[in-house]
Amino acid sequence: MPEGTIERTLVLVKPDGVRRGLAGDLLGRFERKTLKIVAARLLTVTPQMAAKHYEEHASKPFYPGLVTHITSGPVLALALEGRSAIGVVRLMVGATNPQTAAPGTIRGDFGSAVTPNLIHASDSTASAERELALYFGPSDYQTYHRLDAEFA
Ligand code: RTP
Ligand code: MG
Repeated sequence: MPEGTIERTLVLVKPDGVRRGLAGDLLGRFERKTLKIVAARLLTVTPQMAAKHYEEHASKPFYPGLVTHITSGPVLALALEGRSAIGVVRLMVGATNPQTAAPGTIRGDFGSAVTPNLIHASDSTASAERELALYFGPSDYQTYHRLDAEFA
C-alpha cells in the first residue's frame, strides 16, 4: 500500500470539550499518533466566524444550535500535520453521533450527544484549506522536527 501524502487538517476541541477539561487528553491522542502540531490557538469563535465555518450547514435545522454551541466558550484550534492527516483524524474522531461512534474513537469514548459532540475535524482537502485559513494566518505555522515520526 502506498504511503499517504503529508496533509494538514483543522481540529477544534469544541467548547464542551474545553469545559470538560478534555483538551489535553484529546490533543495527546493526536500527538501519540505522531501527528505534528504546527499551529495552535485558544479562542472564542465569533458569530461571523461560525457562519463562515459552518456555511455548508446554513439551511439545516440543526444550524442555529450548532452556531450557539460553537460560540458558547473557548475552543482549542489545532493545525495538525501528518501522513493522510485529514482521514486519519476523522477516523480518530469517529462518527458524528457519539451514540453510534465506535469505542476507541474520541466521540465513541467521551460523547453522548450530537451537539455538543466535543470535537471538529476537517472532512476533505478543500475543507481543510478553507477552515485552516479561518483560524490561522501564514505566520502562525511553526516548522520543527518530531523526533519520533519518520516524516519529521
Ligand atoms: P464536524 O463538522 O463538527 O467535525 O462534525 P461532522 O463532520 O461529523 O458532522 P457534520 O455533518 O459536518 O455536522 C456538523 C455538526 O453539526 C451537528 N449536527 N447535528 N442533528 C443532526 O442531525 C446533526 N447533524 C450534524 C453536529 O454537532 C456536527 O458535529
Ligand atoms: Mg463536518
